[in-house]
Amino acid sequence: MTITRLPSTHEGERPMLPTGDLCRPQGIAPTIDVSGLVDRENGLIDRSVFTDRRLYDQEQARVFATSWLFLGHIDQLQKAGDFFTTFMGEDPVIVTKDKAGRIRAFLNSCRHRGARVLRADYGNTRAFTCTYHGWSYDLEGNLISVPNEDGYHDADWDRANWGLVEVAQLETMLGLIFATWNPHAVPLDEQLGDMKWYMEAFLDRDSEGTTVVGGITKWVLKGNWKLAAEQFGTDWYHVNMSHASALMVLSPTGRGPKKEIAETPGRQYSDEHGNGTGFPTHPKSRFDAQPVHQYYNYAALTDRLGQARVEGPLTTGHATVFPNFSYLPVNGSIRVWHPKGPDEMEVWAWTVLDKSMPEDVRTAQRLYNLRTFGPSGIFEQDDGENWSEIQAISHGWRTNTIPLNYQMGIGSEREDGIYPGSTSTLYSDAAGRRFYARWAELMNTPAWHEEQR
Ligand code: FES
Ligand SMILES: [Fe+2]
Repeated sequence: MTITRLPSTHEGERPMLPTGDLCRPQGIAPTIDVSGLVDRENGLIDRSVFTDRRLYDQEQARVFATSWLFLGHIDQLQKAGDFFTTFMGEDPVIVTKDKAGRIRAFLNSCRHRGARVLRADYGNTRAFTCTYHGWSYDLEGNLISVPNEDGYHDADWDRANWGLVEVAQLETMLGLIFATWNPHAVPLDEQLGDMKWYMEAFLDRDSEGTTVVGGITKWVLKGNWKLAAEQFGTDWYHVNMSHASALMVLSPTGRGPKKEIAETPGRQYSDEHGNGTGFPTHPKSRFDAQPVHQYYNYAALTDRLGQARVEGPLTTGHATVFPNFSYLPVNGSIRVWHPKGPDEMEVWAWTVLDKSMPEDVRTAQRLYNLRTFGPSGIFEQDDGENWSEIQAISHGWRTNTIPLNYQMGIGSEREDGIYPGSTSTLYSDAAGRRFYARWAELMNTPAWHEEQR
């Protein structure tokens, strides 16, 4: 486990919010009390959490503005000036490596009139220059050049007040970059808790670490982002039905899932931070892609990660780190579900590999991931179809008044002495209930930026 906590550059260096006399309206009024929409005890969820625009806006201000959010993989930034752009909720951000080699993340919005400073997906640059009027910022986010700067002589002008807005905290963990706007967010390590132990089974198999290959696959799906995030956190249940045809294609006999597959033993982890992961358990848990299976030395993996992880979360399974980062260990797929309004999400997916893997094994894993997941993947298409189908009918008045069922496995959560934290059976909604409990907790709590005002 490698945790690099980078110091915040806000405090004492540059104000986070604009200076001046502007006074924003208080709060994000009117806020909606969501207590009646999420019933964790009885496993009931109101459908408006997927459809209501006001809830969506509140989510931006109270869930995405306060949580640790996934930005990308450290290998996307090799040298000073490398950058990529992404989103934190609906906010566009630039992630870059500054001259000192530190990873920084800035709001991708010019301090002049608000245009995106960078429109490229990735690249290398010495400065970020806005193409509207030409304000230019260095890799540390400082405003370094303003055309016709003399024109500001009447104002109380100081370039130092007009640098790019930076995230409050940024950390890397297991090769992944996370950041938050929340200066009071607990350290990422604390936020993940026992979830890290499960993540290591995927991201710490190799002492060299991981890398990403093949770029980022991006596509748009009709459907609220939470439908995808909760499924990856809690839902093994759909596999044998939704993916029956894909399982038949992959089966040597061409038949559907057998009874022993349809009733797979396994565990599902969940925690109070809304994180969740589920995985079958089997003494001979193995990688699906043959060259990948042959590459791994399972005894060495057992020495490194322990028997419980090799028999469980090492290979087949699903996971969500709250709120919108998910992964599939056996495919090497990591993905983020970017919210794009209540009815739409943008999926960004990477293939992650162990750095020590030789080229032919890397290719085999990358192609296996693309065949199964990604917009043309035989499993991914099933999932996307389900989410879009649910969303398409969710705006009906009667439809919207009927609560949804998250009752599977109620009361089955326990400490089993093998898998850390609270786990339930594999077929369970435990992580779903906790995902929405965390969501509701944040939605009902004034965020750090509301308290500041
Ligand atoms: S909006 Fe960027 S320079 Fe004017
Ligand atoms: Fe699925």
